[in-house]
Amino acid sequence: MNDTIISLDRHIMDEQRRYGGRGDFSAILSQIIFAAKVVAAQVSHAGLVEDILGRTGKTNVQGEEVQKLDVYANKVFINALNYIGKVCVMASEEENDMIRIPDEYPRGDYVVMFDPLDGSSNIDVNVSIGTIFGIYKRVTPDGDGILDDCLQPGHKLFGAGYIIYSSSTILVYSTGNGVNGFSLDPSVGEFVLSHPGIRIPPRGKIYSTNEGNYPYWKEGTREYIEYLKSDRNTRKAPYTSRYIGSLVADFHRNLLKGGIFLYPEDTKDPKKATGKLRLLYEANPLAFIVEQAGGRASTGYGRILDIEPTELHQRVPLIIGSREDVLEYETFAQKNQA
Ligand code: AHG
Ligand code: MN
Ligand code: MN
Repeated sequence: MNDTIISLDRHIMDEQRRYGGRGDFSAILSQIIFAAKVVAAQVSHAGLVEDILGRTGKTNVQGEEVQKLDVYANKVFINALNYIGKVCVMASEEENDMIRIPDEYPRGDYVVMFDPLDGSSNIDVNVSIGTIFGIYKRVTPDGDGILDDCLQPGHKLFGAGYIIYSSSTILVYSTGNGVNGFSLDPSVGEFVLSHPGIRIPPRGKIYSTNEGNYPYWKEGTREYIEYLKSDRNTRKAPYTSRYIGSLVADFHRNLLKGGIFLYPEDTKDPKKATGKLRLLYEANPLAFIVEQAGGRASTGYGRILDIEPTELHQRVPLIIGSREDVLEYETFAQKNQA
């Protein structure tokens, strides 16, 4: 029995000592861990606790059907972070505007943005779902955080990560010093180090995309997918297709095994003319993680982390995964701009 169990709390403390820090960031991460445990507990009972499944009958700013678990997870993360005095403003997929810190609580130096429940369409069918988060230092001196504090490019991220609620609950995060994964041990109630020093293979043999959008893709994207499905690619054999429909789950599998995930822009839905996925709390945090693991994240035309955000819920094309695969897609995507 390995007696040197590295808990996530210990890992955070080690990182704080090794890379410096006043403990504010660690306090934020600890609250994210707490919120993840609360959401994980609900997800595991979702089939049993009838008031957590199903639709709310409402649609969010994205125009998407809001599931009850979306609302629940959103509240859990907001309430876990708003009172600790380390955060000056938050943003969530489920909130139209920025989330103010209530007057009775102190403001802190950090900004947290999150997708509280990613993969909503999979909630009621018992398929993996997740949470994605990104943490920035504020750019304004004090008081309430404002839009400038939220609209920072991804290369300014101080830390980012995701939780995947599946056969086990895994939390993967980076503070810019590599990527580590932790599995929730339900018997102890703690996340313990299970995936130290994650590196994504430079090239994979898996591609993940919703091929139902094929008729609406631009020419370069269509040609790239045809290329992957042929023996013309560098593998001299077709890639394997794997698509779960929860970004976090598709991303996590490709991070560990290698591969490329694509949600390109499509011409069908004006809302998806620049892609479906949101820059601030889906693309940027995962782009930060994948680059820390040696991979690449691109719109097809440029690095995700270099994008200067203009809106809280802006959407981007997201091509993310093994470095060589993403670079190869970019050579095809140049045709889209012709
Ligand atoms: P969310 O549930 O947070 O809205 O995210 C859903 C996203 C992402 O998880 C997934 O990759 C994508 O939607 C799937 O979209 P399609 O159903 O259009 O393939
Ligand atoms: Mn999402
Ligand atoms: Mn979501």
